[in-house]
Amino acid sequence: MAIGTPLSPSATRVMLLGAGELGKEVVIALQRLGIEVIAVDRYANAPGQQVAHRAHVINMADPEALRALVEQERPQIIVPEIEAIATEELERIEADGLAEVIPTARAARLTMNREGIRRLAAEDLELRTSRYAFANTLNEMKQAIDGGIGYPCLVKPVMSSSGKGQSMVHGPEDVEKAWDYAKAGGRVDQGRVIVESFIDFDYEITLLTVRALNEQGEVETHFCDPIGHVQVKGDYVESWQPQPMRPAALAAAQDIARKITGALGGRGIFGVELFVKGDEVWFSEVSPRPHDTGMVTMASQYQSEFELHARAILGLPVNAKLRSPGASAVIYGGMNEKGVAFEGVADALRVPDTDLRLFGKPEAFECRRMGVALAWGEGINDSRNRAKLAASKVRVVKKTD
Ligand SMILES: Nc1ncnc2c1ncn2[C@@H]1O[C@H](COP(=O)(O)OP(=O)(O)O)[C@@H](O)[C@H]1O
Ligand SMILES: [Mg+2]
Repeated sequence: MAIGTPLSPSATRVMLLGAGELGKEVVIALQRLGIEVIAVDRYANAPGQQVAHRAHVINMADPEALRALVEQERPQIIVPEIEAIATEELERIEADGLAEVIPTARAARLTMNREGIRRLAAEDLELRTSRYAFANTLNEMKQAIDGGIGYPCLVKPVMSSSGKGQSMVHGPEDVEKAWDYAKAGGRVDQGRVIVESFIDFDYEITLLTVRALNEQGEVETHFCDPIGHVQVKGDYVESWQPQPMRPAALAAAQDIARKITGALGGRGIFGVELFVKGDEVWFSEVSPRPHDTGMVTMASQYQSEFELHARAILGLPVNAKLRSPGASAVIYGGMNEKGVAFEGVADALRVPDTDLRLFGKPEAFECRRMGVALAWGEGINDSRNRAKLAASKVRVVKKTD
């Protein structure tokens, strides 16, 4: 498609639903290609809104509010950046030909709920996953564990992300606590949980997978090098690329990623989360959008995951190649405060071959991601050390004056 001129009748308009730190980088990538960008979030001055042409604050889970905004702005393309969206309305918007949803409205619906994507992966595509069951009550949950899931296992609300409401159950004494925790942590209070057997993996990866058009106008699948990461309480703290893998494991990982992204369809980048033990690979989950652990690609690839997403969305060619090994380390708020300040930024940037992103979030929370340090270099260990060192130099402080 031809790209128009922003803020003119010929403009190519893209609307982001969710404008956090990942959305911000997608907005910047789209801006560089001359796209008119509309950033939507549930609070004002979200990171992506600060770099977009226009910003709107709505409840994206409200179908009427979502429809009204799409009719007002008339974007050609809608890019969901978060899970909690009125996805059935997105399906209607797509079916009515109002806008194209990335990668597809169906993919957004299936991945907003752990049940949709798990059933697609394990039951329709027969991909290897942990053993799992769904439960609506504490009693059902106990029966599922006794009936085959076993201990240890993980309990997660079906509607949740970033480890919220998720806990490990080591034995019968933990079951009730895990149920209560999941009920409190779910996004929608429907009390439904997934119980998953614990996979004792050697390491876990995100396999960024891009579905983009080739010269013939057909969708082709590209794989980035695997990203290794460390999760603490369900949230990523560190990532690196490339994660070394045995050839058989890499082949199995790519096979799974090709199948699941193929089944979801459309164009764009996907973060396929996989567990690896020896040559064995398990599918865990998939985001039909850039992945937080993929922020490392801003240091390690010619085209970051955000640039890849922007290009794939617009039907343009992509280059998913690694430029250099690299790493990322998260900078947390460490306090609950509005309008914080960042000290030590110069010290951080004095660490050789590093870079920084400060997201510009209006409010810090103890465990909120406020920025990320990036490093590149000869090897992943060295890059990880420098990314962590740079991150540790940045101090979040209360703004006083
Ligand atoms: N079945 C499992 N076995 C072992 N570890 C798991 C399992 N499920 C989740 N985890 C760990 O918890 C992390 C977060 O779980 P995930 O399902 O990805 O939730 P979220 O949607 O919050 O990212 C994973 O990256 C992994 O480290
Ligand atoms: Mg995950």
